[in-house]
Amino acid sequence: MPPAFKRRLDSGRRTHPLVWLAAIICTIIAIAVVIAGIVVFVGYLIIHPRMPVISVTNAHLDLLTNDYAGLLQTQLTIVVVAQNGNAKAHATFSDIKFKLSYQDRAIAVLVAETFFVSKNSTKDLNYVVQSSSIPLTPEQMEEVNNAWKRNEIGFDLKGDARTQWRVGPLGSLKSMCHLNCLLKFHPLNGSYIPSKCNSRSN
Ligand SMILES: *[C@@H]1O[C@H](CO)[C@@H](O)[C@H](O)[C@H]1NC(C)=O
Ligand SMILES: *[C@@H]1O[C@H](CO)[C@@H](O)[C@H](O)[C@H]1NC(C)=O
Repeated sequence: MPPAFKRRLDSGRRTHPLVWLAAIICTIIAIAVVIAGIVVFVGYLIIHPRMPVISVTNAHLDLLTNDYAGLLQTQLTIVVVAQNGNAKAHATFSDIKFKLSYQDRAIAVLVAETFFVSKNSTKDLNYVVQSSSIPLTPEQMEEVNNAWKRNEIGFDLKGDARTQWRVGPLGSLKSMCHLNCLLKFHPLNGSYIPSKCNSRSN
């Protein structure tokens, strides 16, 4: 066997103590990371954090008038529900801002002060939205006339809210609740046509 090859074999067999030390430290760190991961995972299973949800549960078209000059007047009642499904944490809702519009014409902005929803409960926000006279284009006037004929009219509700909730010792989580809904009504009797409108589905 050539001497150079022999020497390399010898040095391969003897592992330097520092290499052992490094290997042991790496193993300990890896185990610690796995244990920390398991603790967080089990913590999530026990605490079961749920995203707070904003939804529209009911509404009513109280008034809808349009005249020959193309002015639209309307009043809507909208019930927005803030839901906190967490059994062990209350949730904060803030920066609530939902824009109500018809055919891209702004009608109103629905806002609310920051509030808490306690564990596993909900809070209703009742809005009565009254529009001033909204000038419509001839096409939009035509659309309102068609809505009367179809006995169906849709308003857009878009916006979001910030939520924050504590997940026990794991810290607090933040999320945004986005709403992007078409609220539909029968203009003849003002009744709401229920549809899915919540921040979970979009
Ligand atoms: C949450 O509330 C619902 C209905 O209000 C109830 O049925 C359920 O048992 C509650 N869950 C917890 C964990 O408190
Ligand atoms: C309103 O009118 C619609 C369609 O005509 C009907 O389905 C609905 O039951 C009515 N609602 C009420 C509260 O009368």
